[in-house]
Amino acid sequence: MRARFTPNNKPDAMTTKPRLHICTTCTASSADAATDPRHGKVLFDKMVETCADQDLPFDIKPAQCLTNCKSGCSVALSGSGRWGYVYGNLDPETMITDLCDLAARYANTTDGIVAWRERPESLRRNVIARIPALD
Ligand code: FES
Repeated sequence: MRARFTPNNKPDAMTTKPRLHICTTCTASSADAATDPRHGKVLFDKMVETCADQDLPFDIKPAQCLTNCKSGCSVALSGSGRWGYVYGNLDPETMITDLCDLAARYANTTDGIVAWRERPESLRRNVIARIPALD
């Protein structure tokens, strides 16, 4: 989704959905070696395919390296006024539904905080970092 601009040419952040960035160059931490396509690209493609028919409260965007390479697959959640989160060690074969659920829960908060027990169980121990909101 492209950022909208108000007449004074400033981004209209209030209309921008939270984002799930998926690193498409990741190799899964459980793998012995990189694959072609990369595990991160597989994760991205599966998420896009799975979510294609849904009216999601977040956008899915590709990213190239989130500097969490040793703990791939890596994703980042961010949104206006929300804490940002980097998650790692995702499995592109088994975590698609749970990642979609987590991102939707994140998008439905005002501050980005999804309580530990409200996160899908498979992702509860996958937080690598959280980043304060800009505003
Ligand atoms: S290649 Fe995915 S975090 Fe670096």
